[in-house]
Amino acid sequence: MTLFVTGGAGFIGSEFIRQAIARHRVINFDKLTYAGNLENLDAVAAHPNYSLVTGDVCDAAAVAEALPENCDAVVHFAAESHVDRSILSAEEFVRTNVVGTQVMLDVARHRKVKRFLHISTDEVGGDMDPDGWLNNASPLRPSSPYAASKTAAEHFVRAAVHTFGTDAVITRTSNNYGPYQFPEKLLPLAISNAVENRPIPVYGDGMQVRDWIHVADNCRALLMVLEKGRAGATYHMGGGNPLPNLAVLKLLLKILDRPESLLTSVTDRLGHDRRYAVDFSDTTAELGWKPEISFEEGLRATAEWYRGNVEWVRRCRSGEYRNYYERMYGEREATAKKI
Ligand code: NAD
Ligand code: DAU
Repeated sequence: MTLFVTGGAGFIGSEFIRQAIARHRVINFDKLTYAGNLENLDAVAAHPNYSLVTGDVCDAAAVAEALPENCDAVVHFAAESHVDRSILSAEEFVRTNVVGTQVMLDVARHRKVKRFLHISTDEVGGDMDPDGWLNNASPLRPSSPYAASKTAAEHFVRAAVHTFGTDAVITRTSNNYGPYQFPEKLLPLAISNAVENRPIPVYGDGMQVRDWIHVADNCRALLMVLEKGRAGATYHMGGGNPLPNLAVLKLLLKILDRPESLLTSVTDRLGHDRRYAVDFSDTTAELGWKPEISFEEGLRATAEWYRGNVEWVRRCRSGEYRNYYERMYGEREATAKKI
């Protein structure tokens, strides 16, 4: 298949491309915001199946130019993804996550794309009750500006299915973790700080529950949904093991052999959801998928990856990763590539 992947230079999109590239042609359409890092795609950059187009999902003309007619699928990852940033300002979240999704749906329809895979989140269900699990029967109750924008995007996808008969599939995933995650999110931040013996910020009482899934398990599911999912359906993926943040961080410090005194309580996130948990029985029943990487095994491997890639983290933190072309090809070619 030819896949038009948006946001493929981000954390999950780059893992998806690394998995997909052996079987599919991939056009990666990415604006390269602060969250887009071409280093994440070093492993596929020279692959004959891979190409990159720099562009904005809100720019219909740019998308139409890059998207081949009768393309097999759009895989729509591109989004502003960090909850804390959405609390500081929601504007870019509405633009990219809502308008960007509507533009992608419209252009995909005009270009006769065969399937639209929309990447959503468990946060559309909002704060879960202590024994609640998100599934297709759950009400949509987003609580953060980020979650509100992702919920609006889902509504546009369902509207396209209903109104235009678009062959679209939605996936809702819990908290992903693994290599190449930008070090603003909890686990890469905590690992990188712990390695350098720096304090780890714990929001509020640290008892907020998240359902961690390894990014490789998530992307395996995304490929299955893409290839075998039912048109119009919504599938759920989770790690099956919701844990409070403090338990996660204590396990991490044990793995890294660092003291718990690094854990430092800081002011809580505004409107912080207490619990997310995903019931993925629909995806298991229909597609035979379930997570294969246990949390402890995945956390160990992830900690090892960040320990072995301190230079990647350093370049993320310094902003150097944004000069990818200059470093790879020199000033002259970099200017040509950017154009
Ligand atoms: P990320 O922030 O790491 O990457 C986002 C990517 O989108 C970047 O490459 C960025 O350059 C690109 N992008 C942003 N705005 C764009 C625009 N206007 N046009 C084109 N490209 C643009 O995100 P992630 O963590 O990999 O998440 C990917 C998707 O999965 C998002 O839709 C997110 O909502 C969803 N999701 C993430 C998680 C998680 O735990 N990270 C869980 C569930 C769902
Ligand atoms: O649930 C899926 C969502 O998971 C995705 O849709 C989002 O794109 C992704 O960013 C993630 O959202 P969270 O807000 O859950 O992830 P984050 O890593 O920011 O925070 C995880 C938990 O850790 C959350 O309860 C807040 C807390 N936290 C976070 C940071 C950055 C801290 O205690 N300290 C921190 O420094």
